[in-house]
Parts: sequence; structure tokens; C-alpha cells
Amino acid sequence: MTTIVKTDPENPSIQSIETAAKTIREGGLVVFPTETVYGLGANAYSSDACLKVFRAKERPPDNPLIVHISDMEMLKEVTLEVSDEILKKLEKVWPGPVTILLQKSPKIPGTVTGGSSLVAVRMPEGKVALEVIRKAGVPIAAPSANISTRPSITDSRHAIEELDGRVDLIMDCGPTPQGVESTIIDISGGGCTLLRAGAKPVEELEKIFGPIKVTDFSRGLHESTIPLAPGMKYRHYSPTKKLYLASNVELLQKISELGEWREKISIISSDEICRNSKLQCTGLGDGSDLDVIARNLFSALRELDKMDCTIGLIQPFPEHGKGLAIMNRIRKASSGLIEDLDSINMLLQ
Ligand code: TXA
Ligand code: MG
Repeated sequence: MTTIVKTDPENPSIQSIETAAKTIREGGLVVFPTETVYGLGANAYSSDACLKVFRAKERPPDNPLIVHISDMEMLKEVTLEVSDEILKKLEKVWPGPVTILLQKSPKIPGTVTGGSSLVAVRMPEGKVALEVIRKAGVPIAAPSANISTRPSITDSRHAIEELDGRVDLIMDCGPTPQGVESTIIDISGGGCTLLRAGAKPVEELEKIFGPIKVTDFSRGLHESTIPLAPGMKYRHYSPTKKLYLASNVELLQKISELGEWREKISIISSDEICRNSKLQCTGLGDGSDLDVIARNLFSALRELDKMDCTIGLIQPFPEHGKGLAIMNRIRKASSGLIEDLDSINMLLQ
């Protein structure tokens, strides 16, 4: 049985925090909001509780979980020694949507890290997340709350639809402010490599960590055979209906204004394009505001499955700031690139 507790994310009730913390301490599963997406959390020190996370979201056991902490004392518990230099840098990005790989302490079971000696750690900014971890008194291992391969959950409506009956508690706190997951970087080798583009733009992280290596892989351009972050070899963020990426905005606009393929294609684009679309269209917000586009992206991918259409077609966005994360998610969710009108006809045959 799943308990659903509604509370204000900005001003959560003490009772809701206590219920969630107690569930975690007792080895249960809690779906809770962070500033990025909803997480599906368990006590990071309990191998049994973490195994339940993998089962609940049908996640392969070799795809490790991020450990969420509430303060620097907890960082010391979950990692081996962290240098003062790195600590100073972490203090500049935490709490916030940045995840770092560090050497794990023996207190973190191998279940959490998929057998790796590195643990991914982040101190979330979301009030509910921070307070639940603090109250539980243990770090919380949590992947994004979606069932494996599905789009991440950025609204409690979707958490309830997808996870009712699979977890002990769902915190019903509405939409999450960022809408895309944390940025993951690896600083273990001396330099700094981007493992996953995310809510914190690379440009901002470079001011703190120095030059960051951004590979085609981290942009979602191709699936590498060497999984830098193990999760990336799996299908990701996918609606059930097939989604295609238009190779440029002009093409998408043309298709949407042609009005051919009505009831076959559903468009996902900026509000500006939606306004003139003759096809059904889900607006992601003002196209020049990538923060808004990021916030609405995953919900729009989920809405596609409810649309009366055969396929979805999505707009490309510029790859700066949050756009890097937006395009990474879009590429991974897509089944292919549409470069001209002919390829649509072929697809719909
Ligand atoms: O914003 C976020 O990061 C959200 C919220 C809930 O915090 N969490 C999230 O978790 O997106 P998840 O599990 O959906 O994505 C975490 C990624 C996965 O691709 C996983 O493979 C990678 O981080 N990862 C986790 N631990 C790792 C480790 N020890 N070594 C390498 N990659 C790791
Ligand atoms: Mg995920």
C-alpha cells in the first residue's frame, strides 16, 4: 500500500517530513521532490532497502544510484578523504543540482554503486529533500523516480500515476522547479569530465572546476560502447510513442504549418511555433528561455503518450547553458532525426 502525503514544497509540514524520514529509517521507499526531478529514495546504508529501489523501478542492478546528503558531515561518512581544495569547490555548488564522483567509504554498500569503488554524491537544494535527509539522519540513495527507460518525473501527478502500489510513500508536492536532472562531473582523474549534462550549466561549473571536457557522448550524440556513466548505455527518457527530432527549427515549423499528417503527428515545440501550428502541439514555453523549456520537457514527453497521434516530432534547441541538457535528453528520447519531408512520408507509410 502506498501512502500519499500532500505538502507545500516551499514550506513542508513537519508531519510530512517526519513520516518520510521514518519510512526511510525503517527501510522503506519514499518518492520525494528535489529541485531537479522526483527521486525514489531509500536508506543508502541499507543494501536491502536499496535493492528494493532497483526492483520498484525495474532498474538493472549495475546502474548505480546517486547518494543524497544534507551536509558536509554526511559527505565525510559516505566518501573516503576529500581534499580541502575539492571541499572548497563543493561548497560553491552545494546545495544544488551538481553530482560528483568520489571514492566511496565502506559504509556505502556495493549495491548502491553497482560494485564500483566510486560513489556519485549530491546535496540537493530542494527543501523537502534536504529536510527529509536531515530528519532521517542517513544519506538517501535515489535514482530519478520514473520506471526505467521512461521520462523522468517532474510532477507528482506523474509520480502517483506511475508508482502508486510500488513504493511506501509518495510526497505530493506538484512540479519541480528545474525539470532536468543534476549535472554529473568526474573529477577523480585530476581533470574534469562531464558525464551527464544537467540543470547546472557547464559554463558555470567551469568557473569553479576549470575547463570541463564535454564529449559527443555527454551531449547524447551517440551511445558510446564504453559506458562512462554506466546508466548511459540504456534506453532513456522514452515515451511509449516514437519521438523524432527535427534537424532544424525551420523544418519543424514548415511541417507544423503544412497541416498535412493531422492526427498522425504531434509537435512538441516552443509556444511561438505552437501558436501557428496546424498540427496538435504541446508548447514548452518561450523558446528563448531555456530554463522554462527544461522545466516543461519531461511532462511534455509524457503527454505525447496521451495524444491522438502516431508519432511525435520535437524541436531542436541551442546547446548553450541548459540547452546542453535539454538536447541530451531529447536525443536520448528520440528514435531518430528527421531531415526532410520525404523521411516523414516514409515513416508514416
Ligand atoms: O537530479 C538528479 O540527479 C536526480 C535526483 C533524484 O537527484 N537523480 C538522478 O538519478 O537523475 P539517476 O539514477 O536517474 O541518474 C544518475 C546517473 C545514472 O546514469 C548513473 O549511472 C550515474 O548517475 N551514476 C550513479 N552513480 C554512479 C557511479 N558510482 N559511477 C558512475 N556513474 C554513476
Ligand atoms: Mg534517471
